[in-house]
Amino acid sequence: MPARLRFPMLRLTCAAVATAAALTTTAVQAGEVEVLHWWTSGGEAEAVGTLRDLLEQEGHSWKDFAVAGGAGDSAMTVLKSRAMSGNPPSAAQINGPEIQEWGELGLLGNLDDVAQEGNWDELLPDVVANMMKYDGHYVAVPVNVHRVNWLWANPEVLAAAGVEVPTSWDELFAAGEKLREAGYVPLAHGGQPWQDATTFETVVLSLGGADFYRNAFVELDEDTLKSETMIEALDTFKRLRELMDEGMPGRDWNLATKMVIDGQAAMQIMGDWAKGEFSAAGMKAGSDYVCAPVPGTDADFIFNIDSFAMFQLEDESAAEAQKTLARLILEPDFQESFNKIKGSIPARPDLDMGDFDSCAQRSMEDFKAAQANDTLVPSVAHRMAMRSDVQGAFFDIITNYFNDESMTAEQASERLAQAASLAF
Ligand code: GAL
Repeated sequence: MPARLRFPMLRLTCAAVATAAALTTTAVQAGEVEVLHWWTSGGEAEAVGTLRDLLEQEGHSWKDFAVAGGAGDSAMTVLKSRAMSGNPPSAAQINGPEIQEWGELGLLGNLDDVAQEGNWDELLPDVVANMMKYDGHYVAVPVNVHRVNWLWANPEVLAAAGVEVPTSWDELFAAGEKLREAGYVPLAHGGQPWQDATTFETVVLSLGGADFYRNAFVELDEDTLKSETMIEALDTFKRLRELMDEGMPGRDWNLATKMVIDGQAAMQIMGDWAKGEFSAAGMKAGSDYVCAPVPGTDADFIFNIDSFAMFQLEDESAAEAQKTLARLILEPDFQESFNKIKGSIPARPDLDMGDFDSCAQRSMEDFKAAQANDTLVPSVAHRMAMRSDVQGAFFDIITNYFNDESMTAEQASERLAQAASLAF
């Protein structure tokens, strides 16, 4: 308990019973929040530290429940087992439609009073606010908006091979040949299902456009999933293997980013949490590393919103600490300090982006433009687009197809269409 809450208690006298009662209430309110998240890479851990510090400055304590594993697949498994044993953490990083699934189970608390006080309805874009609500009530709070369709490049490596940042798939494959000849890995990749899906969804968006992407991955339309365009996207996706290295199976995403940082690889397709790793390595956006939209997706924005859902709590002080956490997350202090480190943009678009780096500034501009032009689409790989069971089936198909030489694009597209029928 911090001094400012503990100290007055030492001064209690019998004559001050009324005051004592008030102070006791204040003191009881200092509580602990156990926070489940999967932010364990260098940039991620530094970023989440800003939230812990702010919570502690308010007199509450933070119990860290970090479960390693990019995109949170392991974290979600651990969360389910904790919840099944009747002991969920007070706050958990849960993203996208899964918030609704937890809401249906009746386990989430209600944040409407915090939201009302903080004016969340006004502050948040509809697409963000809607995801945070279950049955019309706030049950989660958004931390940021990540853009998934980014290509990261090491400009020194590109220059050494005499190539430019590619703006089309043809240019990317042509640059890949030159980079190989010059002794570099053209495209750093980690062979894990979510990373395969991350790459695949950017190719689908590039070749099909935003409406096609939505028909395929949000509407789960069978004809779209079996279309020529989808088959072409599957072919292009598999061809990207030519640009990757043999060490990719199982590699963590941040180790792939490190290959670009170290100049062993030229580029990586990854969401802008990769920027957190470049920054942690002391590199500057625009000079030491460059960001560009994945070829053919300049006008589009695949979004991935990180958020914390809050579980129902009985203990009064823990509930108070939990509400404080929810409030702090949308305050400008946290939104600015966290997102600068994390690589994302603030969840509330009203903040001044002047102090952010050029990639973040571009991301915010592109987010607003995509919102206005209806080219803002949810990430499949990061649980924004579909129910978790269908998403799991999609992951398996995408990864099996990517790794199985004998599976054709036609077979993969048939399987995607079959998996989509799970949803109906
Ligand atoms: C995403 C998450 C990001 C980032 C990434 C890698 O799903 O939204 O914040 O941490 O996983 O772990």
